[in-house]
Amino acid sequence: MSQKTRKILVTSALPYANGPIHLGHLVEYIQTDIWVRFQKLQGHECYYVCADDAHGTPIMLRAQNEGITPQALIERVHAEHKADFDGFNIGFDNYYTTHSPENRELARAIFLRLKEKGAIFKKTIRQLYDPEREMFLPDRFIKGTCPKCKATDQYGDNCEVCGATYSPTELIDPYSAVSGAKPVEKETEHYFFDLPQFADFLQEWIQAGHLQPEVANKLKEWFEAGLQPWDITRDAPYFGFQIPGEKDKYFYVWLDAPIGYMASFKNLCERIGLDFDAWWKADSDTELYHFIGKDIIYFHALFWPAMLHGSDHRTPTFVNAHGFLTVDGQKMSKSRGTFIMARTYLEHLDPEYLRYYYAAKLTSRVDDIDLNLEDFAQRVNADLVNKVVNLASRNAGFVNKRFGGTLAAEWSEEGRALYQQFVDAREAIAAKYEARDFNAAMRDIMALADRANEYVDAKAPWVLAKDDSRKDELHEVVSVSLNLFRALMTYLAPVVPVMADKAAGFLNINGWDWSSLDAPLMDHTINKFKPLMTRVEMDRIEKMVEASKATLQQSSSAKAAPQKEASSEEADFEPLVPQITIDDFMKVDMRVARIVKAEAVPEANKLLKLTLDIGFETRTVFAGIKSAYAPEELEGRLTVMVANLKPRKMRFGVSEGMVLAAGPGGKEIHILSPDEGARPGDRIH
Ligand code: MSP
Ligand code: ZN
Repeated sequence: MSQKTRKILVTSALPYANGPIHLGHLVEYIQTDIWVRFQKLQGHECYYVCADDAHGTPIMLRAQNEGITPQALIERVHAEHKADFDGFNIGFDNYYTTHSPENRELARAIFLRLKEKGAIFKKTIRQLYDPEREMFLPDRFIKGTCPKCKATDQYGDNCEVCGATYSPTELIDPYSAVSGAKPVEKETEHYFFDLPQFADFLQEWIQAGHLQPEVANKLKEWFEAGLQPWDITRDAPYFGFQIPGEKDKYFYVWLDAPIGYMASFKNLCERIGLDFDAWWKADSDTELYHFIGKDIIYFHALFWPAMLHGSDHRTPTFVNAHGFLTVDGQKMSKSRGTFIMARTYLEHLDPEYLRYYYAAKLTSRVDDIDLNLEDFAQRVNADLVNKVVNLASRNAGFVNKRFGGTLAAEWSEEGRALYQQFVDAREAIAAKYEARDFNAAMRDIMALADRANEYVDAKAPWVLAKDDSRKDELHEVVSVSLNLFRALMTYLAPVVPVMADKAAGFLNINGWDWSSLDAPLMDHTINKFKPLMTRVEMDRIEKMVEASKATLQQSSSAKAAPQKEASSEEADFEPLVPQITIDDFMKVDMRVARIVKAEAVPEANKLLKLTLDIGFETRTVFAGIKSAYAPEELEGRLTVMVANLKPRKMRFGVSEGMVLAAGPGGKEIHILSPDEGARPGDRIH
């Protein structure tokens, strides 16, 4: 394995500082950490930096809701994130924050350089403004009635009922999700990053092997749709960095967030004495890898390389995108208890189980990955415990009891040949790690583990041990077996560092440098064997799921940001409901209703047409609950409806009221049902 030492800088996306780390995030941090540990074990000079993404409207508003300063909020969350990452042994060389002096300075310098080069221009735009909170409202903070289908309570950018997309100024009866006030249109002058100027550069860059093939293809589509200038300004009030030369204008969080990668590294350079410029100058001979989720490709594969190129910095060597996590085949769900926080997991299970399971699932592609909880338990037990840990435990006793803890000094041709097979697998496994095809690497390693166990089974040391004349044979078999175990642990060390540490203690070796496999452990004294890992118990998993349901009820500060579909800072914000008086409330006439008939509306993908009996009359209501209910399961049921809602004309007919339902959407919609004894027409008080 003589290869020249590479200089590699690696990042994971910076998690927002307004919610806890969950198992979805961990796909990325575990993936990156495994890759980094692998590189370090190859002897490369590799640094892994990350930070909290501390700026933006949601963070500002969350702090306001909690009655604390944004600084206090981001400090608290930073400590929580750090503890969660430590718990999963994510070995950052630096975990910083984007709200740092280094980042302020770098963002300023890059902005000024781009401006000087004519890549930034100013333009007056009209945007909706909340006159009560005195702030401009991003699309996601405006709600109102869909201009197409007239569904109420839709976001400013698209309608969840009919799927229409529009601009927030087209909404009927718009209101601010922050205060409930009616927004007004107002002019403001914004800076734009002129992305189209970089079209030629990007066209070439995205085809030059810096991206996964499917990502490059996706980008081609975006290209054909046309590149647009990017609005990099947000007006005060905002939590972020002020734009140089401006008073009430700030950089949009997504401008300074990727620069946060540089800033975190700069902070590390200052601490350990590295030459920052050598790593970031345009013709740097170092490598730069970004690990990200598929939702933020646009930022990392278009804006970011263009910004770097335009400001005379090096561009990424590779941007690796992964898919999203599903649990038991579905989107993580709070009500099912599968929206699992890192903290909750750590309270119930060993982090190395998850690291191994994700490794076994992750490929070099962008596919979503599924955490099937039963498969998780089985896989970890079958692979790590039964194949790997047992290989050590079934041989260790003989070495310690029969041979004073010392491994044989000589092996037969057979033993040497088998060990050599394990060493020869090294290049192929390394190539799979390097290509981020961890799934293939784990399969290779487990195939070797099977071979090692077959060898032990065939040699049956427990039989040899009964025959004193075969003592040397026994010594060789258990010594070779433990060397095979050492090879397996060497290959697994990037994935299960804690187990590897314990194994290093047992084998009495200093570490897991892959090149050290060239010399097998001969005539070497080991230590007493201690259990390396215990089995996954299904009931612990069940307890974790139960506990995850319980965290739903916790205070708002512990509440997770909802899982997002599209990437925008706004997506992580849960709008506040404006307060109303009891009189306002009494205006709402809610009635118990019997669903006499339920039919799918074939032209609408979310709507069911319901015929409701409310005692004194019959109503037709179109309800957006098709994703959660089959029509036949509703017929005959009692539910609750708003009976005095102004009838609304929809594409498919007139809707005469609204059915009450709870839940985030999709399959997770639950219509309300009254308790036994209620009758159609009863009023809700
Ligand atoms: N702050 C931005 C990133 C800025 S990078 C300059 C952000 N933060 S995030 O907290 O929403 O997400 C952090 C990373 O976790 C992203 O790469 C995102 O794709 C990933 N994931 C968040 N939820 C996820 C799943 N459910 N599944 C897999 N990865 C997910 O985006
Ligand atoms: Zn609509």
